[in-house]
Amino acid sequence: MNAHTTEERNPGERQLTVRVLAMPADTNPTGDIFGGWLMSQVDIAGAILAVQVARGRVATVAVHEFQFIKPVLVGDLVSCYSELEHVGNTSIRVKVDVYAEREIDPRTLDQVARASITYVSVDENARPRPLPPRP
Ligand SMILES: CC(C)(COP(=O)(O)OP(=O)(O)OC[C@H]1O[C@@H](n2cnc3c(N)ncnc32)[C@H](O)[C@@H]1OP(=O)(O)O)[C@@H](O)C(=O)NCCC(=O)NCCS
Repeated sequence: MNAHTTEERNPGERQLTVRVLAMPADTNPTGDIFGGWLMSQVDIAGAILAVQVARGRVATVAVHEFQFIKPVLVGDLVSCYSELEHVGNTSIRVKVDVYAEREIDPRTLDQVARASITYVSVDENARPRPLPPRP
């Protein structure tokens, strides 16, 4: 990771925003990790970057892409890397790449998902709020 501040971060630079262990409680009835759990982690991962850019509250407005590339297994260490794709007047589109370190072989790092999500900076009334100026 580089030593840039959030304000200096530009499109193309990615940040580790979520790192979490896939637990038995995150499985579906057949014992596999539930896709909705992973989508939730990815939404959080993208929102962390969006909040930094907005310097305030954001709302998820659209998921443009969500690909499940490989299964996530119980015991995997899941890492989500967030990267700015586009910054508009009030909106921030974030790409999230998700990797799993496998419990069975910690040397194995698989990309398990990728997503592209747009967040909108919102005010106290949950209405769009212009983003602060970027350096
Ligand atoms: C987010 C929200 C306040 C935006 O309100 P809105 O009236 O659509 O606002 P606008 O039309 O002015 O759009 C605001 C920005 O969002 C962008 N936007 C709106 N809908 C979009 C979509 N489907 N995809 C991509 N961008 C979108 C606009 O392009 C605009 O970007 P810009 O300011 O950078 O040019 C409103 O849609 C909302 O409250 N949605 C629900 C959000 C929510 O509850 N999320 C959690 C779900 S549990």
